[in-house]
Amino acid sequence: MTYQTEVERITKFIEEASKYSTLNISEEFIDWLRENGFFTKPAAIKHHGNYSGGLFDHSLAVAQSLCTLTKALNLKWQNQRSPFIIGMFHDLCKLEDYTRTTDVAGWAYNNDKILTGHGDKSIIMLSQFLTLTEEEILGIRFHMGAYQTDDWTAYDKAMKKYETVLWAHTADMYAAKILNK
Ligand SMILES: [Fe+2]
Ligand SMILES: [Fe+2]
Repeated sequence: MTYQTEVERITKFIEEASKYSTLNISEEFIDWLRENGFFTKPAAIKHHGNYSGGLFDHSLAVAQSLCTLTKALNLKWQNQRSPFIIGMFHDLCKLEDYTRTTDVAGWAYNNDKILTGHGDKSIIMLSQFLTLTEEEILGIRFHMGAYQTDDWTAYDKAMKKYETVLWAHTADMYAAKILNK
């Protein structure tokens, strides 16, 4: 893990977000992210990123992987900010998944969630602060790819409409399965 503290992660987030002229992250959004544990919560309890700050570290790794793929494959996006948006916020749903405990593990599953869902839930939460492009919506909705087979037909259609949907899933897999090996 590269970052040790919440302050280091917030600083890195603001630095990365400022690289995109088409992205305006409001103070209100940053406050909401901080209050809801975006920089402190884990990405999982049993799987990759199961430590404090793991959710941010995973999200940043996906954003960076998607930016690397964008350059390598010369991907064209509706908006230049999109690989960053999809990477950083695809797992925003996880903000409601974990709660602090006083034992050594530090985190447990939250059994008192209000919203269900995964990619779709991340889009709902993000819509409070950003107006997303269709490409961003589909990239986040289908970022689990074959791991969430609730609607294969729609996933096929989404990939055919935007090939970036496939690369968003690939970046998530790369960050979770290869970088975290
Ligand atoms: Fe996910
Ligand atoms: Fe993810």
